[in-house]
Amino acid sequence: MMNKKDKNFHIGIIMDGNGRWAEMRGLPRYEGHKRGVERVKEIVNVSVSYGIDVLSLYAFSLENWMRPHEEITVIMKLLEKTINGEFMNFIKEGIRFKVIGNRERLSPHILNAIESLERATENNNNLILQCALSYGGRDEIVRAARKIATLKIPSENITEETFSKLLDTANIADPDLIIRTSGELRISNFLTWQAAYSEFYFTETLWPDFTKEELFEAIQNYRTRDRRFGKVKRGIFA
Ligand code: FPP
Repeated sequence: MMNKKDKNFHIGIIMDGNGRWAEMRGLPRYEGHKRGVERVKEIVNVSVSYGIDVLSLYAFSLENWMRPHEEITVIMKLLEKTINGEFMNFIKEGIRFKVIGNRERLSPHILNAIESLERATENNNNLILQCALSYGGRDEIVRAARKIATLKIPSENITEETFSKLLDTANIADPDLIIRTSGELRISNFLTWQAAYSEFYFTETLWPDFTKEELFEAIQNYRTRDRRFGKVKRGIFA
């Protein structure tokens, strides 16, 4: 599915609309999250077969901590269950699991599950699944700035490149394509630094209805884009 041109292809997804999907059906919100997890599993598996190198999923933002306690509990339980349940699949499929975000707010329980899976899959290289959990882009940048202060890095050594290496996404290429479901047209603090030159694909589809066919469609659409990274098109002016 991927060709040489797409080498090191990174897709980020803002998975939105679980709650609305459930509410539209008169179901409790957790039913939407449950169905959302099913879509995650499908999209992760198909990403391996499409030859995608990095898939970043926005699973829980720092702002999401302001949701009602019961909903946070349900989401955290689902996340923990998924992480533990996918353990063997990730090993079998050669998927490297990695969490980005502010770990200080995560319970020791879930942190334990995350770190075990990260360790067990750290040498895998079929697909890097970067899960943004308790994540905020600005918070990530502030934490990187704090590392600079702690490490007393001299100002002349602070470049975009060295700064990037202090972010949670250190050594991972920036996202080429960011998809957002459910019709919202904003970035919501997702990969704030890394999305500087990303292409965006917005769809009205709610996350629980997002299929592998639509992922394929988004990739096809991305391929029609002309990525110039601020430069002019070669052949016209140069
Ligand atoms: C968006 O819908 C979803 C979330 C805020 C978090 C829940 C995410 C999952 C259950 C996916 C699980 C991820 C992994 C990696 C296993 P929303 O509640 O914001 O929907 P709404 O905007 O319609 O209220």
